[in-house]
Amino acid sequence: MKMPEKVKDIFNNEPVHQFATSSKTGVPNISNVGAKYLLDDETIIIVDNYMVKTLSNIIENPAVSILIRSGRESYQIKGSCSYFISGDIYEKAKKWMKSIGEKYPAKGALQIKVENIYNSNSAPGSGERFENSDK
Ligand SMILES: Cc1cc2nc3c(=O)[nH]c(=O)nc-3n(C[C@H](O)[C@H](O)[C@H](O)COP(=O)(O)O)c2cc1C
Repeated sequence: MKMPEKVKDIFNNEPVHQFATSSKTGVPNISNVGAKYLLDDETIIIVDNYMVKTLSNIIENPAVSILIRSGRESYQIKGSCSYFISGDIYEKAKKWMKSIGEKYPAKGALQIKVENIYNSNSAPGSGERFENSDK
């Protein structure tokens, strides 16, 4: 689904988000992601620099969730993740990462297709799913 402007603004403007993954057997993991950008309104790119458990989880299980927050405004983004170590998605992500710092390894690129977004505010409406703007 397409991300609303207010979700894209927080995604782009906040420096670090929390990235939740899970193993095939359901063991959860959470990590920080700061190397991220939007490819388009419904596609997130995250660069794999240091991922260990996160990487094994996304290979076993593509279902992921990203928690984004600015002050008391917060959204939960859920989607399906693919992993690239070659090709256009990877080469573009690597170039972007290296332009920020040569020190970053850019081992791979995660492409997340956004499927659902939920309100994660601390207020009435929390937990509600956004209507798919495509429909
Ligand atoms: C502020 C901050 C931002 C981070 N951003 C990323 C990132 O974009 N990509 C990445 O591979 N690791 C990033 N990390 C490292 C992860 O938090 C984590 O250490 C790494 O994924 C290994 O943990 P794992 O075994 O849970 O995957 C970041 C760490 C911090 C503290």
